[in-house]
Amino acid sequence: MAFWPDVLFGRTGNAGRLKVGLIGVGLRGTNHLENLLLRKDTLVTAICDIDPARIDLCLNLISKSAAEKPKVYGKNELDYKNLLGLKEVDAVIISTPWTWHAKMAKDAMLAGKYTGLEVSAASTLDECWDLVNTHEKTGTHLMILENVNYRRDIMAVLNMVRQDVFGELIHFRCGYQHDLRFVKFNDGKTAYGRGAEFGEKGISEAKWRTQHSIAQNADVYPTHGLGPVAVMNNINRGNRFLSLTSHATKSRGLHNYVVEVGGRDHPNTQVNFKLGDVITSTINTSKGETILITHDTNLPRPYSLGFRVQGTKGLWENDGDRIFIEGSSPGHDWEPDTEWLKKYDHPLWKKYGDFAEGSGHGGMDFFVLQAFVESAKQKIAPPMDVYDAAAWSAVTPLSEASIANNNSPQDFPDFTRGLWEKREVYNWMKDTF
Ligand SMILES: NC(=O)c1ccc[n+]([C@@H]2O[C@H](COP(=O)([O-])OP(=O)(O)OC[C@H]3O[C@@H](n4cnc5c(N)ncnc54)[C@H](O)[C@@H]3O)[C@@H](O)[C@H]2O)c1
Repeated sequence: MAFWPDVLFGRTGNAGRLKVGLIGVGLRGTNHLENLLLRKDTLVTAICDIDPARIDLCLNLISKSAAEKPKVYGKNELDYKNLLGLKEVDAVIISTPWTWHAKMAKDAMLAGKYTGLEVSAASTLDECWDLVNTHEKTGTHLMILENVNYRRDIMAVLNMVRQDVFGELIHFRCGYQHDLRFVKFNDGKTAYGRGAEFGEKGISEAKWRTQHSIAQNADVYPTHGLGPVAVMNNINRGNRFLSLTSHATKSRGLHNYVVEVGGRDHPNTQVNFKLGDVITSTINTSKGETILITHDTNLPRPYSLGFRVQGTKGLWENDGDRIFIEGSSPGHDWEPDTEWLKKYDHPLWKKYGDFAEGSGHGGMDFFVLQAFVESAKQKIAPPMDVYDAAAWSAVTPLSEASIANNNSPQDFPDFTRGLWEKREVYNWMKDTF
């Protein structure tokens, strides 16, 4: 039987509820809206999007759920600032295209709103510093909404890391390996439909995401892989990323896709895509681990974030769902990870799992929202904070610089300015979030 968390359902009035404003209600923002509408401890008081069709869709969802109608913004690209001026907004969730993230988040913190920011948080080192400096200047918190940190297997493996199953940590692999050709191009009518259009002629992510494949040769989307690994090895809390080197392959996938779908004479066959099909970066940490991170979004392939967690006693790999722990696993053979993941199932998943699985992305979305709402209600630092947002997102500009400079090593700035040595490890084994 499903266990329904006590934060859900049965609204009892507005007192004490977190008042949330949503900036950007495309596919992801709408997903957040749907999950917020299920909670009895939140109220969506304002929404903002420059696309009237998205606003209509959201108002429709809100009215069906019998929640109060929110204030609406979006008459131009800067109208979000008017939402930030509302006293009836305590917290905001920003789910806009990447180029808006750091600017909007900075403005939100300046306005004193507890800030939830979709991934990645920033695209340049200046933007990373801007987020950190604004947090320190205002005391307002920012949470990077990295949902993969809450995946069931990831949390079970985190539990195993904390219980020393792998011994001393040595090496990690992760990445974003997702054939996005159907997302980067569409027909201007359906987000993930057929078609070879992008930019003004595309909709949803094809409208903006594809431009990053034209303009940048870098790991443009590092945090789904890196976020979970960074938590496992305590980055910014006793450990830190030191430097990175990156390599890019040639670029073939997007051009070939345009030819295949749009035909040889399609104007987009003339576009020069700068993004290499496979970008690999190696990060080394102050504790002597390495992290191999891959960005692979332009070629036909099954989805995988490709995790490997390896220590002195053994390793887990998400591709193949397999594990080897010396002394427990037979001989030198892999064994299926099923029983291990069951044994170390995270307490949060044991508690909320049945319900969470209905909330999107296999349950992760419930947990990431739960952590955001609980942290914002208590006005405390979130589990994944502004320093994490900056360090994880810095992979984009650093990988770009490395690739552009003959794969030379690039140093990570220390966004904590030395505090990483003293900062306490966040306790992910809490009862509620
Ligand atoms: N964590 C996850 O699993 C996950 C999944 C999908 C997307 N995302 C992230 O969420 C963000 C949004 O992605 P999406 O898929 O919803 O894209 P989308 O294109 O569907 O939505 C973006 C929305 O932002 C609106 N917008 C653009 N500029 C604006 C402005 N100045 N003011 C107000 N609204 C503006 C657009 O009209 C659009 O509706 C991206 O950062 C993406 O990386 C995260």
